[in-house]
This record gives sequence, structure tokens and C-alpha cells, in this order.
Amino acid sequence: MTQDELKQAVARAAVEYIKPKLHGDDIIGVGTGSTANFFIDYLANIKESFGGAVASSDASADRLREHGIEVFDLNSVDQLVVYVDGADESNHHLELIKGGGAALTREKIVVAAAKEFVCIADESKWVDVLGQFPLPVEVIPMARSYVARELVKLGGDPVYREGVITDNGNVILDVHNMSIIDPKALETAINQITGVVTNGLFARRGADVLLLGTADGVRMLY
Ligand code: 5RP
Repeated sequence: MTQDELKQAVARAAVEYIKPKLHGDDIIGVGTGSTANFFIDYLANIKESFGGAVASSDASADRLREHGIEVFDLNSVDQLVVYVDGADESNHHLELIKGGGAALTREKIVVAAAKEFVCIADESKWVDVLGQFPLPVEVIPMARSYVARELVKLGGDPVYREGVITDNGNVILDVHNMSIIDPKALETAINQITGVVTNGLFARRGADVLLLGTADGVRMLY
């Protein structure tokens, strides 16, 4: 199977997984990226089963609306029954690296408001130790060089993602060459650097369920 076919398989599995949990007025959280896009496309088939969605990016909001799914501002919603999103890496504890699509801050906010986080990924994202994928860090533009120097002190090799401005008007540093043995501690340490908005480690709040697309089918991991 191709990587896209694996992504489609997990996106379909996610719709099947959440469908029995949904009631008429429920609002769900929807992530960003190519796997999330497949999920949005399949979600449209059950759009009568829930009230609408909160999106983690403008791109996902547009795609949801194109399918006739109402998009809500998070401020108008109490709680999201579930959040479904992809990842750039997952370890065996379902701690993640996210932010390859630069949507990490809104993704982390929407996750925080959700009762359950369902991650959907193809098997190329499954790793023993996080960090082969460069860790995205969203930074206030004027703090870029300062934050980069602090990230070097933490052992990383930050690279400015040129030409990318996040939906929040900030920039991204991708931190290379980090073998992330203690994801929760590193997530906390990077958050302490002044000028950092968010980092792409989703370890303190990792996924609750991972639907992993493999050549042998979709595996459900808790
Ligand atoms: C966007 C993300 C995505 O979930 C992550 O980059 C995975 O993307 P894809 O599904 O395209 O492989 O965190 O900020």
C-alpha cells in the first residue's frame, strides 16, 4: 500500500471509531495536514451525526466548510468530545511530535479542550525515540535569534523555516539532531524559553488512542 492509502485507511478507521460516540449537538476537534484532510473528507459522510467542528487551522476550517460542516470558534464551545489529528512522529507511549504543517499552537489548544485525542498516522511515523523528525517550535518573530541560541544550549540545532508564517503571525524554528529521551521534560523546558509560543512535543498531553496504518491493517494502540 502507498503512504496515501495508509493515511486513507486510518482516516476511515477514525470516522468508524468516533461515530458511535457522537450525539446530535456534539462538536468535534479537527486537526491539520494530509491525514487530517482525508479524515475531513470521510467525516463529511456522517455530518448529520454531530453539530459541527472546531478546526486547528484556517486550511482545515475551509475544507470543513466546503463539505458543509459548520465550523465553530473554540470560545463558543464548552468541550469537544474528541479531537482527531495526524502526527509527524509517535513513540510507544503515544507521545508525539507535531507541527510539520506549522499548526502546532492551535493544535495544542484544541487538544487541551478535548475529552479524547485520537491520533491517526501511517506506520512511517512510529518510532522508538522521538527526534528524527525536526522538532517545530513556534516563536514570536522578534525573539527568533534569542530562542535559537537557547535551543542550542538545550542540545539542538535550530533551523529557521523560511517563508512560513503561522496562522498566529509567528515563525517556526525546526530543531534538528535531538534524541528526545524525556519528552515531557523537554516540552516543559522549551516552554520556559521567553519568546516561545508552543513547541511541537505533545507529551504532557499525548494521544489517548493511536490508529496506526500498517501493511497488515489499522492497529489501534492505547
Ligand atoms: C500539522 C501537523 C500534522 O498533523 C503533521 O505534520 C502530520 O501531517 P501529515 O498528516 O500531512 O503527515 O502536526 O501541524
